Amino acid sequence: MTSLPLPADAEAFDRIASARRSVRAFRPDPVPDDLLERLFTLAGKAPSNCNCQPWITHVVSGEAMESLRAQLAAAAASAPAAPDIAITNDYVEPYRQRRIASAITLYKTTGVTRQDVEGRQRLNLRNYQMFDAPHAAFFCLRRDFGMREAADLGIYAQTLMLALTAHGLGSCAQGTLSYYPDIIRRTLGVSDDLVCLFGLSFGYPDPADPTCAAITPRAGLEDTVVFHR
Ligand SMILES: Cc1cc2nc3c(=O)[nH]c(=O)nc-3n(C[C@H](O)[C@H](O)[C@H](O)COP(=O)(O)O)c2cc1C
Repeated sequence: MTSLPLPADAEAFDRIASARRSVRAFRPDPVPDDLLERLFTLAGKAPSNCNCQPWITHVVSGEAMESLRAQLAAAAASAPAAPDIAITNDYVEPYRQRRIASAITLYKTTGVTRQDVEGRQRLNLRNYQMFDAPHAAFFCLRRDFGMREAADLGIYAQTLMLALTAHGLGSCAQGTLSYYPDIIRRTLGVSDDLVCLFGLSFGYPDPADPTCAAITPRAGLEDTVVFHR
């Protein structure tokens, strides 16, 4: 980190980027419509390959949200996941250790241990209840797009998450929300030509919930960035 005095915008950005973290407990209050539109307009300022803006986002609230919550939770309790895009389960090192460290951080806030299979399953099922969030976004892409467009979608989603944080809102990106894509397509009328890459539960955080205390570790610069000076 530089020791030079920071411009006010840089200070604000540092604060927002550092404050963003995955929120897994929400209050029921809905986000006003005009704020929703502002946030998704900001997300659309993200850059993309050839400015193709490949993202197609379905933002869900109200009855559709409750219907999805019920259907996804029922599917997760009874059927194996059937995602459009394969799930990476067997990470090699060092990614495996990073995954374990972040899971342990989360489990610690809830009192669940790695050995507690039932407790872990209970936490996992909370994904499909979308952590009681009042809203979710589902990020879709054309099926024939590739990694470049998937990267565009990730940049778009992070822009959205930072905008949410700046407005006092919380969010959790969730690959798990893409594990039963037929439910998403059927309920939201999404064409078969699109895949759902991941979803995002969002709303006003419930700071009283212990999971909100989870601060996940990060690998050092020396392990993630190669400077050629
Ligand atoms: C694309 C993507 C998918 C994710 N999927 C899930 C998920 O299904 N369930 C979950 O609880 N967290 C999920 N996360 C959140 C990560 O676990 C979290 O970002 C990571 O542990 C770092 O913690 P932080 O977001 O609090 O900084 C996902 C994050 C991303 C970017």
